[in-house]
Amino acid sequence: MPAPTLDALTSPTLKYLRERWWNDEFTTFVVDTLRPRPGNRILDVGSGEGEAEIHLGRRHVSQIRMFGVDLMIERVLVARRETAAHNQHVRYATADACALPFRDGVFDSTFCVAVLQHVGDVESAVREFARVTATGGRVIAVEPDNSARYLYSSARAGGQAFEAAARFFAAVAAARGGAPDSAVGPRLATLFARYGIEPLAVRLFPVSVSRLGAPSEEEWRGRRAAIEQAIDASPADAVRTLGRAYLDSLDEYASEAGRAGQGFVEIQNTMLFAAVGQKSE
Ligand SMILES: C[S@@+](CC[C@H](N)C(=O)[O-])C[C@H]1O[C@@H](n2cnc3c(N)ncnc32)[C@H](O)[C@@H]1O
Repeated sequence: MPAPTLDALTSPTLKYLRERWWNDEFTTFVVDTLRPRPGNRILDVGSGEGEAEIHLGRRHVSQIRMFGVDLMIERVLVARRETAAHNQHVRYATADACALPFRDGVFDSTFCVAVLQHVGDVESAVREFARVTATGGRVIAVEPDNSARYLYSSARAGGQAFEAAARFFAAVAAARGGAPDSAVGPRLATLFARYGIEPLAVRLFPVSVSRLGAPSEEEWRGRRAAIEQAIDASPADAVRTLGRAYLDSLDEYASEAGRAGQGFVEIQNTMLFAAVGQKSE
C-alpha cells in the first residue's frame, strides 16, 4: 500500500498527514510564537500521540514545563510512551478541550493543532483556552478549512471524481449527525477576539502534492480500498449508493489517467490557518 498522502479523493480531512506540517518551518513558527522562557508552563490541547512535544523537544527548548491533554486515553498512552522514548518529560492527561481541568491563568501559553475541526462546540474550547492562559500569554490555534480543498487534474474525469468525492464525504458526515466545523481555520482569529484573546497574526501553511504521470495500479487500488472502507462504515443506504456512484467515477478517472500516461498531471492543495493571539487583560 502506498504511503498515505494528501488526497481529497480518499479523505475529507488531513488524516495521517501530520508529518506534512510538523516540519522544520512549522516547528520554528510554533517555538518563535510561543517564545518559551525557562519555567514556562505550556499547554497542548488535543496533543494526540505527542507529535508537537517530540518536535519541540528536538529544539532543546530548555526548562519549560509541557502539558498535553487529549480526549482519547489511547492517544495519551502513546504520547507518554513516545515522548519518554525521546527522553522528554511531558505531563499528559485525558481531558475535553471544552472543559479543561485547570485553574484560571495557570499556563504561560496554550496551543492546539488540528483539533478544533473535530470539536462540536468550538466556542467553548476557545473560551477555555482564554481562561487557562495567563494575561499576556500567547495562544495559537492551527486548523484547516476542509471545505476548500483544491484538486486540478489534466483528465476531465478527475474533476468529476473530485466532485463525487465531495458529495460522498458530505453525505457520510451528514449521516453521522453533521460534522463539527470542518471550515474553522479562517474563523479562528475572530473567535479569539470574541473570547478575550487579542488576535496578533494569521499565518497560512499550505499542504500540497503534485503527481506527474498516471498513478500506478497500486495507487488506484489504495484509493478504491479507502473509499470502500468508508462505504462499508456507513449504515445509510443512500450514502452507500452515493459511494458506489463515486467508485464508478473513480474507475473512469483511472482509465482516463492511464490513457494520458506521462502527460497526466494531478495537483492537490489545502491550507492550514494558524491564528496567533495574546490573552487580553
Ligand atoms: C488530528 S489529531 C492532532 C494531534 C496533534 N495536535 C498533532 O498536531 O499531531 C486531533 C486530536 O484531537 C483530539 N481531540 C478531538 N476532540 C477533542 C476534544 N474535544 N478535546 C481534546 N482532544 C480532542 C483527538 O483525540 C486527536 O488526538
